[in-house]
Amino acid sequence: MRMPEPYRIKMVEPIRLLAREERERKLNEAGLNVFSLKAEDVFIDLLTDSGTNAMSDNQWAGLMLGDESYAGCKNFYHLQDTAQGIFGYKYIVPTHQGRGAENLLFSILVKPGQYVLGNVHFDTTEAHITLKGGKPVNLVIDEAYDTSTYHPFKGNIDLQKLENFIKEHGTDSIAFMLITVTCNTVGGQPVSMENIKQVSEICRRYGIRVFIDAARFAENAYFIKTREEGYQDKSIPEIVREMFSYADGFTFSAKKDALVNIGGMIGIKDDEELYMRLRELVIVYEGFPTYGGLAGRDLEAMSRGLREVLSFDYLQSRISQVQYLGQLLSEAGIPIQTPVGGHAVFVDAGKMLPHLPWDSFPGVALTAELYLEGGVRAVEIGSLLMGRQAPTELVRLTIPRRVYTDNHMAYVAECLSNINKRRDQVRGVKITYEPPVLRHFLARFEWA
Ligand code: F0G
Repeated sequence: MRMPEPYRIKMVEPIRLLAREERERKLNEAGLNVFSLKAEDVFIDLLTDSGTNAMSDNQWAGLMLGDESYAGCKNFYHLQDTAQGIFGYKYIVPTHQGRGAENLLFSILVKPGQYVLGNVHFDTTEAHITLKGGKPVNLVIDEAYDTSTYHPFKGNIDLQKLENFIKEHGTDSIAFMLITVTCNTVGGQPVSMENIKQVSEICRRYGIRVFIDAARFAENAYFIKTREEGYQDKSIPEIVREMFSYADGFTFSAKKDALVNIGGMIGIKDDEELYMRLRELVIVYEGFPTYGGLAGRDLEAMSRGLREVLSFDYLQSRISQVQYLGQLLSEAGIPIQTPVGGHAVFVDAGKMLPHLPWDSFPGVALTAELYLEGGVRAVEIGSLLMGRQAPTELVRLTIPRRVYTDNHMAYVAECLSNINKRRDQVRGVKITYEPPVLRHFLARFEWA
């Protein structure tokens, strides 16, 4: 039996579905790019799971205990204690969100011309590596790009590719390894404990430091517990501890698995010198090291959210809701990344709309159609986002944590199923405006 949510609803936020003609007008005004829609014109918003979480009564209560002192606020110490306990790391540096953490750490560790290895780097991560003169390298296993084949850990790094890369380019040319858990770009796919451990062993052998992009660390731990041999009887906190024991530090977007709306941090296991340099930089870019660009109340909400996210019952209901949407779509014959990942269902728009070549952006066309069909907002993860021909043209239906019910999921599935029935008629799009970096946010289109 599928267990229901281990919480009940205390407060609701009304949402509304605009009439079809209104949706058409709004989408045209937005240049067919759903990023440019006003959120109030969206009925069900599956753009991202980032910062869109519903906080608990305990977290809201924590906001009232915000200590807004410039230096040394008590909420920082709560966060530090919590994070040290969870990850087993000595040093914690708060930042305003994940990319703030990336900016600081990469400023110190990336020298121009160096490679930063990973499974698949997230787009802001890639941008920060590139801005520091570094070169992002993705070494995920090939199965990650084959949406129809089952693999329990599609976020794994290909160990052979890793060794080959190190041997070919030499350790001096490599800044560090960054393992993203779960691996967002290929579908929120988990990385196995065995893989984290082996990657860490290989890197250690060559003197390369290992970091974790920890945005969805608890969801990754859930997959290890439920899919990996030997972890069924381990608790989520035990699994998290072990995952982080193989790394030297992490960057973290708290907007995902700290169940908050804003926040981030860097964790450093024991490298005091690196920590001291981060403390100097955080002051310049984010704020004093005990607030990192956040209010005291935000730090408190993060601290409480980090404790809540470790609940197995919570993780089970969270991930089984994502799987429920995936199951409805599969039953409707819609091609999706299988197995379904932790935070989203990724529709394979390339397979669903095979008549559309990559440069007529099947993913963008499908997100536009989905908004027209039912006021649902999704996001393209394909050639638009990559800035070049992508290996897969995906549309991400990202589920905010604790926000929508299964009825919302059933509605989304029905909208997509309606589009699927007339998929031959879905037109491609062409770009009418494109900014030079991170073009997907601001690009404009017209129907081809
Ligand atoms: N790393 C990963 C794996 C992410 O998914 C994100 C953000 C970041 C880093 C950056 O964190 O947004 O707090 O600055 N992902 C969001 C998304 C934006 O929609 O997937 P941030």
